[in-house]
Amino acid sequence: MNQHLRTDPVPFIDIAAQRRRLGHSVDEAVSRVLAHCQFINGPEVAELEAVLAAFSGAEQVVTCASGTDALLMVLMAKGVGRGDAVLCPSFTFCATGEAVALTGATPVFVDVDEATFNIDVTSLKRGIAAARKLGLKPKAIIPVDLFGQSADHDAIGAIAGAEGLFVLDDAAQAFGASYKGRRLGGFGVITATSFFPAKPLGCFGDGGAIFTDDAEFAETLRSVRVHGQGSDKYDNIRLGMTGRLDTIQAAVLIEKLKIFEDEIVARNLVADRYARGLGNVVTVPHLASGSTSVWAQYTIRLPQGTDRNEFALALKAQGIPTAIYYPKSMHQQTAYRDFPVADGGLPASERLSSDVISLPMHAYLEEPTQERIIRAVRGALSA
Ligand SMILES: Cc1ncc(COP(=O)(O)O)c(C=O)c1O
Repeated sequence: MNQHLRTDPVPFIDIAAQRRRLGHSVDEAVSRVLAHCQFINGPEVAELEAVLAAFSGAEQVVTCASGTDALLMVLMAKGVGRGDAVLCPSFTFCATGEAVALTGATPVFVDVDEATFNIDVTSLKRGIAAARKLGLKPKAIIPVDLFGQSADHDAIGAIAGAEGLFVLDDAAQAFGASYKGRRLGGFGVITATSFFPAKPLGCFGDGGAIFTDDAEFAETLRSVRVHGQGSDKYDNIRLGMTGRLDTIQAAVLIEKLKIFEDEIVARNLVADRYARGLGNVVTVPHLASGSTSVWAQYTIRLPQGTDRNEFALALKAQGIPTAIYYPKSMHQQTAYRDFPVADGGLPASERLSSDVISLPMHAYLEEPTQERIIRAVRGALSA
């Protein structure tokens, strides 16, 4: 069949292909939970925390109900609240700043680097100054490892150290990626991730985890996870939440983690093929030296003057889905536009919001299908 004429739909993320590869292993893991009936805090939860610790290199892993809860639990455990400022990139998924606002603290939005999509340290310094000028107490920085690529943690850590702030890495899109040879979560920075199904390591529902090397802090997180419970179950010693990961999701994740390394390799092959096929017609993602990516998204920038909607429609007509992450940066959204931003504004975030578009990306994207996508992108741009 002539590939040029194909219009059958290509999946944006092929969870079904992964399901076929996993075969009966996940069904059997879930059946074991259905047989033992410990749906909350069953043995699979502790087992998952141990295998995640081994995978990441973190000393302590505290699983939880979502990536948003992971962020919120850390901020609650650290006592972040009213009068505090937490620095976040504006070009991110809303949960990053939302978790801050939910504590009563003020998210202060800073700009990102256009090449890596991750926090721009110059803007970060300006954001800290802006927070102080407003009478807020800067408490923390939440870098995001956007689209799967690690942020520049040394540069961010240096600023945090100099300013007396703690760092909470939002690795919701990047679990499995590394920074200077070490996996995210494995070098002492408190790290939160999400196991939402579309994430590089996803479960079959909502889930998340927190990684830390501090055993005492992990205990506080475990207390926050269950309503602030103390050693006496009915004497709650702090405010907390219902933040537990279901045992069934833990069982699913244990099976998925077994193929995750291999999937990361496959995702990188897909990214390399895109870079080779598209690098001379669009701006393809740039990997900073020392950072690897798990390619949660493959996000390109269209040449100036390209109509993004028409481009997306041209691909759609050929069965190729695209997505825009994010058409509005956080500081441009209704719920967040009154929060402060770094002096000088956030021009890079705004430019990215107007010209990025993401292409299908997953570990099961086979070469002929990817060739079809590449041809469609090139065709749409030359039309
Ligand atoms: C950067 C970022 N932070 C936080 C989250 C929140 O994760 P969840 O959807 O599991 O609550 C997401 C998920 O989409 C995300 O992409």
